[in-house]
Amino acid sequence: MHLSLPAYLPEPVGTRTPRRRTARRPAHLVGDTPVLWVDEPFAPPGRGFHAKLEGANPGGIKDRPALHMVREARRRGELAPGAPIVESSSGTLGLGLALAGLTHGHPVTVVTDPGMEPAVARLLTARGTRVVQVTEPHPEGGWQEARRARVAELLARTPGAYCPDQYRNPDNVAAYRPLAAELIAQLGRVEVLVAAVGTGGHSAGVSAVLREAFPRLTLIGVDSVGSAIFGQPAGPRLMRGLGSSIHPDNVDYAAFTEVHWVAPAEAVWACRALARRHYVSGGWSVGAVALVAGWAARTHAAGTRIAAIFPDGPHRYLGTVYDDAWCHDHGLLGRTPPPDPDDITEPDAHPVTRWTRCDRVRDPLARERGTARDRGAAGVGVGVRVEAGSQAEVGDQVETEGRPGVGGQAQGGVRVEVEVRVKAGDQEEPGSRAKAGSR
Ligand SMILES: Cc1ncc(COP(=O)(O)O)c(C=O)c1O
Repeated sequence: MHLSLPAYLPEPVGTRTPRRRTARRPAHLVGDTPVLWVDEPFAPPGRGFHAKLEGANPGGIKDRPALHMVREARRRGELAPGAPIVESSSGTLGLGLALAGLTHGHPVTVVTDPGMEPAVARLLTARGTRVVQVTEPHPEGGWQEARRARVAELLARTPGAYCPDQYRNPDNVAAYRPLAAELIAQLGRVEVLVAAVGTGGHSAGVSAVLREAFPRLTLIGVDSVGSAIFGQPAGPRLMRGLGSSIHPDNVDYAAFTEVHWVAPAEAVWACRALARRHYVSGGWSVGAVALVAGWAARTHAAGTRIAAIFPDGPHRYLGTVYDDAWCHDHGLLGRTPPPDPDDITEPDAHPVTRWTRCDRVRDPLARERGTARDRGAAGVGVGVRVEAGSQAEVGDQVETEGRPGVGGQAQGGVRVEVEVRVKAGDQEEPGSRAKAGSR
């Protein structure tokens, strides 16, 4: 079937006023990612969602927390100049840490498992990162626990080594403040946020800041079947990025309105539908998020502004999600997802194996703690003008600091202006300046 591009291109390519986007260092390319409107086949024409394309970062969404965690660890003196960084990652944080290591001058070791795509392992190696692969899953905690154990081993025998521990580090959550400010600048208002959950970092960080401006925000979490995060039993998982066999501290359970579990065949269908219809696509989490965001666009009132975070692009999945032979061998082709998910009334009602939703979200470990907001994620009051900190050092992700003033009234008609400045060395460079009006 040949699908021609829909005739809704707003203007001929290249006629927009060029944005001034130059960088002195690769870390300055992080952030200020674009947003793309996605409708069919996920939702009928006129309905749809705004996809925040984090794959436009040099490494992916995790460039943001990698740079922030490393910078904060250096500031606190936990990471000495030139000391090694060791972390467990399925890939995306590894790519971000490669960038952070290069930026701040630290050797990086990434501990992973055989599921890491060869392309990612090669990219990491090319970028100077040492890749260590565990070969056996932990009997209870699976691959993730096996990786964590290996990290502990490496830390014990490497004096001065530092592990950011993305599952527990509040800086992983706080790193997403700029992403939320960008969304407000781009969309004006956000009523529904759809985000994948792995460590819990970006769902917690972005939603905490958005709720400052839009207290009635609906947060829809997207997890993988076989993931233990929201109370399902841990099982084998084909999908990488989202999901976990542990219960990461960074997941802000109280922030979620509902959670969806998505199966690999459904994510593959969505990834391929995205690529075919919208050119832009990504990996497992992108497919799962697109499927759920499309459903949200169909089931919420027309005009509801839905933002969906696409954590990365398609390239590292060319040998899996986009490979017919691989997908065929794993029984993932030719299965169009149903229009609606199954519903369960409790997150642990029974193990789910296909797209399923639950509007009760709770911490399976019933931990007592504050929300992401208490843990520092919502330090940004998003105001009419959001101005970046001028204290940034070379390689920082842009930090924002807002002025209160819009709050819950920001719904509709509000104009949001963002001015970002990055200080690189002695020279202060004006960064991006974005305006977004909402009707
Ligand atoms: C591709 C991809 N999608 C989604 C996620 C989940 O994001 P978070 O860890 O912020 O919950 C990750 C985490 O590593 C990822 O790599």
